[in-house]
Amino acid sequence: MESWFSAQIGKWYLKSKRDLPWRHTTNPYHIWLSEIILQQTQVAQGLAYYNRFILKYPTVNDLAAAKEDEVLKLWQGLGYYSRARNLLFTANVVVQKHKGLFPANHAQIKDLKGIGEYTAAAIASFAFNLPHAVVDGNVYRLLSRLFGIKTPIDSTQGKKMFSELAQNLLNRKNPALHNQAIMEFGSQFCKPTRPDCKHCIFNNKCEAYKNGWVEGLPLKTKKTKVKKRYFNYVLIIDQNNNALLNRRGQSDIWQGLYEFVLFENSQPVLPADLYQSNELLKVCGREFDVLHVSKTFKHILSHQQLMAVFHVIRVKKFVLKKGLIKTDIKNLTGFAFPRLIEKFLNEPELKEIL
Ligand code: ADE
Repeated sequence: MESWFSAQIGKWYLKSKRDLPWRHTTNPYHIWLSEIILQQTQVAQGLAYYNRFILKYPTVNDLAAAKEDEVLKLWQGLGYYSRARNLLFTANVVVQKHKGLFPANHAQIKDLKGIGEYTAAAIASFAFNLPHAVVDGNVYRLLSRLFGIKTPIDSTQGKKMFSELAQNLLNRKNPALHNQAIMEFGSQFCKPTRPDCKHCIFNNKCEAYKNGWVEGLPLKTKKTKVKKRYFNYVLIIDQNNNALLNRRGQSDIWQGLYEFVLFENSQPVLPADLYQSNELLKVCGREFDVLHVSKTFKHILSHQQLMAVFHVIRVKKFVLKKGLIKTDIKNLTGFAFPRLIEKFLNEPELKEIL
């Protein structure tokens, strides 16, 4: 069924894939390690853990012989330590029950502790080229959008429907390549927010694109928990009317946009406490005047609720900490700010201050 799908996505993958070490191996032990690590973290951070594990325990026998403390130490920073304990436990099962060879069939792989449906399909296909379709978050997103499926992915019916669809789409001649391609496309192209649909290879077929459902799919029955974040933004101005700005990095919301100096907390912080904090002291020094404290701006993102208070502070001279940018307040409008900050800058009261 739908061989266009596998052909197109396979072609895209061969041209666009990231070069990752676990893609150069069919060693099931190495693939298993990579998948367990990648359940805990992003590729960028997972790479270092993967390399350290392979270096210290090149074979499943080496891992099986390790002390639990050592394995936990190597796992440190990834959290969810039961995964690390399961790794050691399963390595011992592979050595003792399977003579050190990973079983080469899906059912036996899935029987191993710590290995669920997704990981079993990943190992079976990547290591043994067996025809088992992987279904992870990336696959749910891509398939729900491409075929315009509104069945919630966390319902029994949805799980069944998506795994059947993924299995039907699978290229049985090359399940390994097909599975890598569909996951890579989901993670690198069919992104949760603002995917580049204009340049997507499927945009003439994608139901979500045609109908304007892209950011609304996939659907879930349970509401995802909304994370509350408390922002204190400090607009620091010196005597020459220069302000300090920060450009946001790549790991969080608003990548590459500009903002004022941010102090973030998981709970509300009183202005008096903020003004006495060491963090603020480091940029403002001890002597400053508070010109304005805004109301609390509530800003809703898809999985986050931001509560932001803006403080306008006048200093004699500020400390230009690494990464911060100095600009005349007259030029603020030339910077790309998130909508939240624009809302604040458009407050009438602010015109009297700046
Ligand atoms: N995330 C989970 N498995 C992966 C893989 N094999 N390659 C890239 N990212 C992944």
